[in-house]
Amino acid sequence: MAAVTYELIKKDAKTKARRGRVTTPHGTIETPVFMPVGTAATVKAMRPEEVKEMGAEIILSNTYHLYLRPGHEIVREAGGLHKFMNWDRAILTDSGGFQVFSLGDLRKITEEGVEFRSHIDGSKHMLSPEKSIEVQTALGSDIMMAFDECAPYPADRGYVKNSLERTTRWLRRCKEAWNDRENQALFGIMQGGMYKDLRKQSAEEIVELDLPGYAIGGLSVGEPKELMCDILDDCVDYLPEDKPRYLMGVGTPDYLFEGVERGVDMFDCVLPTRIARHGMAMTSAGKVNIKNAKYERDFTPLDPECDCYTCRNYSRAYLRHLFKSNEILSAMLLSNHNLHFLINLMRQIRKAIEEDRFLEFKREFYGKYGEF
Ligand code: GUN
Ligand code: ZN
Repeated sequence: MAAVTYELIKKDAKTKARRGRVTTPHGTIETPVFMPVGTAATVKAMRPEEVKEMGAEIILSNTYHLYLRPGHEIVREAGGLHKFMNWDRAILTDSGGFQVFSLGDLRKITEEGVEFRSHIDGSKHMLSPEKSIEVQTALGSDIMMAFDECAPYPADRGYVKNSLERTTRWLRRCKEAWNDRENQALFGIMQGGMYKDLRKQSAEEIVELDLPGYAIGGLSVGEPKELMCDILDDCVDYLPEDKPRYLMGVGTPDYLFEGVERGVDMFDCVLPTRIARHGMAMTSAGKVNIKNAKYERDFTPLDPECDCYTCRNYSRAYLRHLFKSNEILSAMLLSNHNLHFLINLMRQIRKAIEEDRFLEFKREFYGKYGEF
């Protein structure tokens, strides 16, 4: 039995949106899904129980960070990432590809892999397809991501073609190292930048390897929203219908709608927890900057339509006070609300697809939310 399987439950009548279910060794995931990010084996400022209570069925963590600190051998000794961080639901780990490419001058790409210097202490390391799979094996994630190269934006065609072809060769090496084991799945990653024919080439090459799932990488890297939507629309058509589709690093409310509309099943983004630490909240009436003086005596909840722990118990005035006083509870409460907001949004999106009113729901949400 494959570690991860996908079941298509329902297709929307008017768009490519679809309602599905992903089954993993650590439980099932109703899709479309938003995956909270727990880069360093923690969803920042949140206890796992809270993340669970709001209904998260899968979280994401990072090979690059855990390899450097505390080291994957320590996580292995602890009994794997699930046990180490006290999270018994599904975990997806990114391969480290994207993170090492973001290091700029600190890295060097060869056919073997990527040589880089640690952002923590400057020490020298090498990540390769085999090494990335070795680390993800030690972590014991349910879904491992292939080691890929994400081209920057903008990048010329020649560069993008080379990098997508290298990504395919690296994927073959990842598949070899993974060897279709029973308790962990491997997802391939499509690259190809903003060139539609290269996206098609990448998709054909990776789909041929018949993996349990496929991701779309190299999007939301600084290109205009219209361009991303146009490319994404094409990308999804090249992927098989019977496997989950994951759009990497995307998760603002508008992009979630645009992705779902085009047939994406899985999303992740650091945004909800990151902006929370900067005093920003996503609410049913749009963005709220809790630092704003107008909330000084506002004793109403952050989002009157939200039933999260924060909104049930605290006022905007109190949240503003916590932020202004640099209190740790500020990040905790705002992270709780923001994650709850996105997870609840996905719940509503799934229901709308089931009831064939996805576009109506999208229109209603955009009307209320305002600027993204
Ligand atoms: N996260 C966001 N984009 C990407 C990508 O293209 N590749 C990987 N591995 N992770 C990502
Ligand atoms: Zn709330």
